[in-house]
Amino acid sequence: MSVIDASGLTKIYHRGAEEVHALRGVSLSVQAGEFVSIVGPSGSGKTALLNLLGCLDTPSGGTLSINGTDVTNLPESCRVIIRRAEIGFVFQQFFLIPTLSAKENILLPLTFSKKPVNESRAQEILDMVGLSHRADHLPHELSGGEMQRVAIGRALVDDPKIVLADEPTGNLDSHTAEQMYGIFEELVHKGYTVVIVTHNTELAHRAHRVIRLRDGLLEPDTPCSCPENP
Ligand SMILES: Nc1ncnc2c1ncn2[C@@H]1O[C@H](COP(=O)(O)OP(=O)(O)OP(=O)(O)O)[C@@H](O)[C@H]1O
Ligand SMILES: [Mg+2]
Repeated sequence: MSVIDASGLTKIYHRGAEEVHALRGVSLSVQAGEFVSIVGPSGSGKTALLNLLGCLDTPSGGTLSINGTDVTNLPESCRVIIRRAEIGFVFQQFFLIPTLSAKENILLPLTFSKKPVNESRAQEILDMVGLSHRADHLPHELSGGEMQRVAIGRALVDDPKIVLADEPTGNLDSHTAEQMYGIFEELVHKGYTVVIVTHNTELAHRAHRVIRLRDGLLEPDTPCSCPENP
């Protein structure tokens, strides 16, 4: 089953009189439980695409369905509901609240979605991202990798089935970046659908499928040579 179905997506940004064609007709389907990496040069439209797939922004043209719901022209008030129910986001800048502990940062989305905060859910998420021993640390008392783990935990706490990550390892050293990919691989094993934008082509190939963007268009799929997908 496709959880993401995009057809002919375009995105035009307006900067004064200038039009920037960030996406020029992108079609792709992502299946439930799939692990997809998106790579491409700076400015090729990776963030623009991820923002559309995550219902953070609306396309200028084309169509997009998330879990069978046509979200192409939904107003923000409806997109926010879809985002909370279906999608977890991880950004390169971790966007943690400096005065809240690791655990409190992870639990924060529950406040917005008005779900009860329960201790066992917090523990489950802390275990999943390997942070049980840092639960009460403030962000400035955490390493970069640990901060990114908090950001991943926060993306998971609302129990989305799709996790989208934009350069989640961009601010991390290569060893920590590999560990982060390990967490995403575990999520895929647990049945999550994961789409990651990355500049790191070596890590990108650990996904089931690598999608390449250039000048707002997809290049043909490159089959992955990792052992799971010979
Ligand atoms: N809000 C905006 N207004 C105008 N132009 C924009 C806006 N956001 C992005 N763009 C332009 O759209 C194009 C695609 O940008 P995008 O951020 O998707 O690139 P990217 O592939 O994510 O690059 P990077 O690897 O540097 O993050 C670029 O030419 C960029 O300058
Ligand atoms: Mg980007």
